Amino acid sequence: MARILVLHGPNLNLLGTREPGLYGSMSLTDIHQALVPLAAAAGHVLDTFQSNHEGALVEYIQQHGVGAALLIINPGAYTHTSVALRDAILGVGLPTIEVHLSNVHQREPFRHHSYLADIALGQVIGFGHHGYSLALQAACHWLTQQTG
Ligand code: DQA
Repeated sequence: MARILVLHGPNLNLLGTREPGLYGSMSLTDIHQALVPLAAAAGHVLDTFQSNHEGALVEYIQQHGVGAALLIINPGAYTHTSVALRDAILGVGLPTIEVHLSNVHQREPFRHHSYLADIALGQVIGFGHHGYSLALQAACHWLTQQTG
C-alpha cells in the first residue's frame, strides 16, 4: 500500500463554477470522490490538499512528502511562476505527475512554461477532470514497476 498525495493550487477550489467552458463542471470534491475508489482498488490511499497560498503548498509538501510514494499535482497558476514549489518537490525527492485540466499549450504563451515539467515523471494535459484519473492510473502503473 502506498500513499499518494493529490495537490491543487490556487483557484482550483472554484472548480465546477470557475470558467466551466475551460475547466468543466465537476467540483474538486466530486473529482476527489471519484479518485478514492480507483486508488483503493489498486491498494493505495490518497491524501488531498488544496490551497490558494504558495507557502501552504510548500509546507504541505515538506510535511507530508517524505512518507508519500508519489505526488499528483495541478499547481494552477503556480505552474508558471513557482520556483518554490519546484524546490519543495526536489527537496523531498517526491516522484511527481503534473496535471492540467485545460490544454495550456493552446492558451496564452505565459501558460506554456511549467517549472515542474522537467522534474516530473510526466504530464497529463487537456483532458479535463479525466486527467486526474489518467494520472492516478499512470501513478499506479509506475508504483508497480518500482516494487516489481
Ligand atoms: C490550470 C492551467 C493554469 O494555467 C491555470 O492558471 C489554472 C488551471 C489547468 O488545470 O488547466 O489555474 O492548471
